[in-house]
Amino acid sequence: MKILVIGGTGLTGRLVTKKLANLGHQVVIGSPSHGVDIITGAGLSQALENTEVVIDLSNSSSPEEENAIHFFQNAGKNLVQAELAANIRHHLVLSIVGTDDALQIGYLRAKKYQEDNIKNSGIPYTIIRSTQFHEHTDAIIAVQGNEEEVFVSKIDYQPIALEDVTDYIVQFALEEPKNGTVEIAGPTRANMDDFVAKYIEIIGKPIKVVSDEESKYMHLVVPRSLLVPAGQYNAGKTHFEDWALVKVNEVPLNMHDHH
Ligand SMILES: NC(=O)c1ccc[n+]([C@@H]2O[C@H](COP(=O)([O-])OP(=O)(O)OC[C@H]3O[C@@H](n4cnc5c(N)ncnc54)[C@H](OP(=O)(O)O)[C@@H]3O)[C@@H](O)[C@H]2O)c1
Repeated sequence: MKILVIGGTGLTGRLVTKKLANLGHQVVIGSPSHGVDIITGAGLSQALENTEVVIDLSNSSSPEEENAIHFFQNAGKNLVQAELAANIRHHLVLSIVGTDDALQIGYLRAKKYQEDNIKNSGIPYTIIRSTQFHEHTDAIIAVQGNEEEVFVSKIDYQPIALEDVTDYIVQFALEEPKNGTVEIAGPTRANMDDFVAKYIEIIGKPIKVVSDEESKYMHLVVPRSLLVPAGQYNAGKTHFEDWALVKVNEVPLNMHDHH
């Protein structure tokens, strides 16, 4: 089957592209460096020729409000127009758990626009809402910390490994469209500060986790259960600690060059 992966060069897109190709599908990478731009529309209709499924794993260049809204609005319009013309059978998009519940956050408003745009398009669709990835922990430490301390609240947290996210994307993309939303999350729910403390302990980083009494995430006050599924969800199988232990024992990629 011919499948277009928008954002196929990104963190998530790269892995999804590889998995689909390994399954024998004809995968087209929809990214500017591969001649497909969903903002200008360049290369889009050619990439959609004979395509059955579109997987949207694109992202704005920054999560900043104006930039994200501009990106997802323009991309959304172009994608729907081109996909209707190409008679696409299934459009799958990766969104975020809690998107409806904190629309004061500009990036989530932008993601909500991305979701609603496809819901109202008439194109058969599946929306996957994921929790944060295990791989996102470094970003939390970078944004909420300094050289010596990181300030992390006790909000509910249930991260999922990128590997499990990409398995679910492939699975749902190859199934019939849900014309609805499914949620995915990691196997364990705990307080965010516990996850960050465990990570810092395993990787041996010399910084201290300070519990932040306010329910904050990335400096914003958010509902305590914003980042975890409220109802049914599909669980990833990789436990956070196991993922961190593998990561700490990994040989950095560039080390291989010397052997
Ligand atoms: N990271 C998380 O914890 C998390 C959790 C839940 C959901 N998500 C969602 O997952 C999605 C993918 O995130 P990610 O972290 O994998 O993304 P990423 O690594 O930032 O990659 C973004 C991709 O979008 C492509 N792109 C940018 N502008 C484009 C354009 N004009 N036309 C076509 N493609 C364009 C980029 O292409 P170039 O390489 O050419 O720039 C790149 O392939 C996002 O929508 C995000 O909201 C992420």
